[in-house]
Amino acid sequence: MSKTWSAALVGAVLVAATLTGCGGGDGAGGTDDGKITMGFSQVGAESGWRTANTTSVRTAAQEAGIELKFSDAQQKQENQIKAIRTFVQQKVDVIAFSPVVESGWDTVLKEAKNAKIPVILTDRAIDSPDTSLYQTFLGSDFVLEGKKAGEWLVKEYEGKSDPVNIVELQGTTGSAPANDRRDGFAEVIKADPKFKVVASQTGEFTRAKGKEVMEAFLKAHADIDVLYAHNDDMGLGAIEAIEAAGKKPGVDIKIITVDAVRDGMQALADGKINFIVECSPLLGPQLMDLAKKVVAGESVPKRVLTEETVFTSEQAKAALPERKY
Ligand code: AHR
Repeated sequence: MSKTWSAALVGAVLVAATLTGCGGGDGAGGTDDGKITMGFSQVGAESGWRTANTTSVRTAAQEAGIELKFSDAQQKQENQIKAIRTFVQQKVDVIAFSPVVESGWDTVLKEAKNAKIPVILTDRAIDSPDTSLYQTFLGSDFVLEGKKAGEWLVKEYEGKSDPVNIVELQGTTGSAPANDRRDGFAEVIKADPKFKVVASQTGEFTRAKGKEVMEAFLKAHADIDVLYAHNDDMGLGAIEAIEAAGKKPGVDIKIITVDAVRDGMQALADGKINFIVECSPLLGPQLMDLAKKVVAGESVPKRVLTEETVFTSEQAKAALPERKY
């Protein structure tokens, strides 16, 4: 082999190694130990849904042989930004995160992009128009979830003309599920003027805050017909407030929630919640599959939707024995 050819061959091998370097994606992140390292920034531990999601991600990483660097942001964007910067410094192979709010990610995601570390959005989206900042977004259609909640309500009050006073417990202010579940619900009920949202406030997706805000709603409004809570936990907190006020949840005040975690499903089976729109937290296995593909340089769809259903009380009773979370 001539000197020129052997130099070219060495060069080609080096380029190939740089492009495919296992565990190193495009060669920027990770070590060359053949193992994928994922930096994962979780929102926090605010709800039963979140706990189930964390378990799903941790278990799936272990099963997929992916080393997980897990960071809990305690519902604070600045903590997530710090975690992402640390993952970039650590040269992980892939970063996945569930953004606590929709806005304000461009700067840190550009840093990851410049370091050639691919990013996967999981569970929640960001509102940046620059979609090159992430490879894919895996999660639910939150607008659709809000619409499903509204559609149940419209059916429930079909043929009735009296005003229906609704109070709404919103999720974390500025988060994708809070924005989208509010908008989807509003879009469906606006067709009929008898539906009035008389109060709407954040309960931060937690049981404690849901209870606190519901107490205030009950003091301010004597005639609440319906509670729409953006997750089960806030609905469960509100149930405590409703019972403490001497009213029957599910009867005096109809309740719609989102998630379908075990405690929510139990309350639905007991008749304290009337309808639940499912939001699946079991994203771990799909996330790991996507991570492997992204690190290997394979193309992945820009949007991967989660499959979900809805539950009535009877359906909750049937599903509960098999419910994993
Ligand atoms: O982003 C998903 C939402 O976040 C869940 O519906 C809620 O329970 C969680 O805290």
